[in-house]
Amino acid sequence: MSLFIKKPLAQIMAQAADNEKGLKRTLGAGNLVALGIGAIIGAGLFVRTAAAAGQAAGPAVTLSFIIAAIGCAFAGLCYAEFASMIPIAGSAYAYSYVTMGELIAWIIGWALIMEYALGAATVSIAWSEYLNKLLEILMGKGNGVPYEWSHSPFESMTIDGVLHHGIINAPALVILLLLTLLLIRGTQESAMVNAIIVFIKVAIVILFIAIGWQFIRPENHTPYMIPAGTAPVVDASGKVLHSYDGVFKHGWGGVLGGAAIVFFAFIGFDAVSTAAQEAKNPKRDMPIGILGSLVVCTILYILFGHVLTGVAPWKDFVDPTKGAEASVAYAISQYMHGYGWLSTAVTVAILAGFSSVILVMLMGQSRIFYTMSNDGLLPKAFGDLHPKYKTPYKANWILFVFVGLFAAFVPGSVAGDLTSFGTLFAFVLVSLGVLILRRKEPDMVRPFRTPAAPVVSILGAVICTGMIVAIDTRTLLVAFIWMIIGLVVYFAYSKNRSALRAHADVLPTASDFERTRP
Ligand code: ALA
Repeated sequence: MSLFIKKPLAQIMAQAADNEKGLKRTLGAGNLVALGIGAIIGAGLFVRTAAAAGQAAGPAVTLSFIIAAIGCAFAGLCYAEFASMIPIAGSAYAYSYVTMGELIAWIIGWALIMEYALGAATVSIAWSEYLNKLLEILMGKGNGVPYEWSHSPFESMTIDGVLHHGIINAPALVILLLLTLLLIRGTQESAMVNAIIVFIKVAIVILFIAIGWQFIRPENHTPYMIPAGTAPVVDASGKVLHSYDGVFKHGWGGVLGGAAIVFFAFIGFDAVSTAAQEAKNPKRDMPIGILGSLVVCTILYILFGHVLTGVAPWKDFVDPTKGAEASVAYAISQYMHGYGWLSTAVTVAILAGFSSVILVMLMGQSRIFYTMSNDGLLPKAFGDLHPKYKTPYKANWILFVFVGLFAAFVPGSVAGDLTSFGTLFAFVLVSLGVLILRRKEPDMVRPFRTPAAPVVSILGAVICTGMIVAIDTRTLLVAFIWMIIGLVVYFAYSKNRSALRAHADVLPTASDFERTRP
């Protein structure tokens, strides 16, 4: 039987409609926008904005945000079409199953583990670092979690002449455990906690923009792009720390280079689509959730980038003696006198931001596991729902162990770029999938239609493929190995247990499916 056996839409719709034994539909449009913002605003905004400005774009990081947002918007529009017409958990995995068949769906499901599970692990490690920063701000230096208990065994550092080795990243494990417990307790409860966190972090971002606006110095915005021939940044010994010579390090090229850096800040809007099966009115609310969160975040990001580069000169953000680390806190304490409390507030916002990113990533991953398990491609345990809370609690626990092992024992730098790879890969397939389904099922009701579909989806796929090519070779190699492992699992286990293959002889055909013209 073909490796590209496709799941009939009729079957997927019946699965989604089967609410009695399925996930509960509890999320409204507001919850979904909050879910999106929850997953989007995190390390990308607070860490990568300054990095992109200092290394490549200068004050024109605002334009970098616009370019990255356009790339995401193309993919986002395609996600919105799928999520409104196939309101089932599983996101890009589920859409590929219908359009490109089982093998591609498996591959994309396996790649999504990189986006969501490794994304959650990366952000939980960053959470642990910032917890220590907050403890230091509040209680003084040396009062954070000891180095040994907040780093992986692969890390070591000399502090006050003594060499310390990491043992386990305990804070990362603790935040994962707390959020896993919350997710098991219920989707609505998780959505409520997420909404509170989103309120806190958005409020602090707005506060920074409003207060920082008065400290913008026009000379920091002139020239707006990094000029060709800009002198490199050097340390005290004259060693070059950063050069502006490359094509993507100054001028318009630098704006593009900056877009690749800040792309990470947009990852997460697609997580809204993993909750499609828990949306009260997915046809209307899915597009609102996906595109609404993208629009809100883009506006905040542009304003944030404008203020940050107006307050501090962008070169400060590559200088380790100035603002290369904790750049936002540096800009506040150095250039916004009298607002020390704001830098504490920003650290709180960062911690809050990270928590909601982890929460939504864990939720998204467990929903993808849930759907893959219902399809027989993963063991049944991944699809078991809690008898009372109706959440995929076993998938949540398995995920906790998997993500926890990464978070506790692997350095954060390893997983970060893999997250971007998994995301971009999904974006490419979803963009192409819209075109394929338009051709295969032209009459199917599409509550939301991607405008100018062929142009938008082809451009979405091209831009995202371009960003994949720009990822460094080492990351691509690791991603390749991960995908090979995925294929071994598929051929050794999943293919033979596929529910679709088992019932292929009784599958509904396309003509069984009721078509209605919109
Ligand atoms: N967009 C998320 C962040 O910036 C992944 O942390």
